[in-house]
Amino acid sequence: MLGAKMQQALNKQINAEMYSAYLYLATAAAFEDLDLKGCAHWVRMQYREELLHVDKFFDFVVAREGQVKLTAIDEPVVGASTPIGIFELILAHERKVTGLIGDLVDLSGSERDHACANFLQWFVSEQVEEEANVSDIVKQLKRIGDNSQGLYMLDRELAARPMPTLAPAADAAAG
Ligand code: FEO
Repeated sequence: MLGAKMQQALNKQINAEMYSAYLYLATAAAFEDLDLKGCAHWVRMQYREELLHVDKFFDFVVAREGQVKLTAIDEPVVGASTPIGIFELILAHERKVTGLIGDLVDLSGSERDHACANFLQWFVSEQVEEEANVSDIVKQLKRIGDNSQGLYMLDRELAARPMPTLAPAADAAAG
């Protein structure tokens, strides 16, 4: 069974993952405004992936006989209006989420909750991948600069992102 502190922290993370989803959806709207359909699609797929993260935390709390408590989601603010500005904002956000996951890992250690520590390892790896993916897009946008043909090609590439699923290996790792 989940301890009170761990339960509260996991519920807070459910809110943070919902906020992530909401932020990605807001960036999808920003890319639609810029008529960059491929970028909009890419962040829309990430929005769906964030909802899978919500499910994963939700299911873990339930499996540990904890109580899920949902709280209000903050309004997402996309304080950028260029493709690179938006992806840099996303990268900064993912780095923040990595910190939140790290805090949860620390707490599971101090609470001696080994099941939770094991569960969180999936998210530790996931954050490495998410930061790398966004960082790669930021680097490509830096190389592209003002080249509209380059931006067109990248937008086409991002349009090919498939619908996200949770990898079987990750599910197994999560128990
Ligand atoms: Fe759920 Fe993008 O981290």
